[in-house]
Amino acid sequence: MIVAIRLATAADAEGLPDIERDAGRSFLAIPDLAWIASHDLTSAEHLSRIPAGTVWVAEDADAGLVGFLNAEALDGEMHIWEAAVRRDFQQRGIGARLIETAADRARAAGLAALTLTTFRDVAWNAPFYARNGFEIVEGDARLSTLLSREAERGLQRRCAMRRRL
Ligand SMILES: CC(C)(COP(=O)(O)OP(=O)(O)OC[C@H]1O[C@@H](n2cnc3c(N)ncnc32)[C@H](O)[C@@H]1OP(=O)(O)O)[C@@H](O)C(=O)NCCC(=O)NCCS
Repeated sequence: MIVAIRLATAADAEGLPDIERDAGRSFLAIPDLAWIASHDLTSAEHLSRIPAGTVWVAEDADAGLVGFLNAEALDGEMHIWEAAVRRDFQQRGIGARLIETAADRARAAGLAALTLTTFRDVAWNAPFYARNGFEIVEGDARLSTLLSREAERGLQRRCAMRRRL
């Protein structure tokens, strides 16, 4: 397994929803979150952020694209909209490498932090991000708005997190 992390190109966009769908199947193990397995970004949503240089992919020499991180510069910070790694490639550090790549590029671009919203009590969500340098934040205006919008869409037990760079 030789997995390289690189910037996504427009040609990668159509393959990313498949990775997300496969990764999301991990949520089938959590009965009240099983519906997350069928929720994902469209290739158009990926494509829209690729030109800004804020989407990265993990590519295996044999298997092709196996993961991605989709982010956007917002208010001087890099917000991670989605990260996903194909289940047969999970728990080998690829997610952590995608985060480090985003952190390096965000720092080089003069951004102050990485931010995201995620599930508080899912092992591969908030606890995973905490191990990768993120802290739970309360009361931030931009992130609180995102959490409110998520709650309107039925997402519960979410939290906002920030990793200062
Ligand atoms: C989150 C995700 C991208 C991490 O990718 P990854 O390549 O497995 O990341 P890493 O190998 O660097 O670390 C995975 C961590 O999840 C933890 N984990 C715990 N239970 C797990 C499980 N059932 N399945 C996968 N990971 C689990 C591992 O312990 C590991 O942390 P550690 O190595 O620090 O102990 C991947 O799990 C994924 O695609 N999940 C589904 C989609 C998702 O939830 N995305 C995030 C939305 S905000």
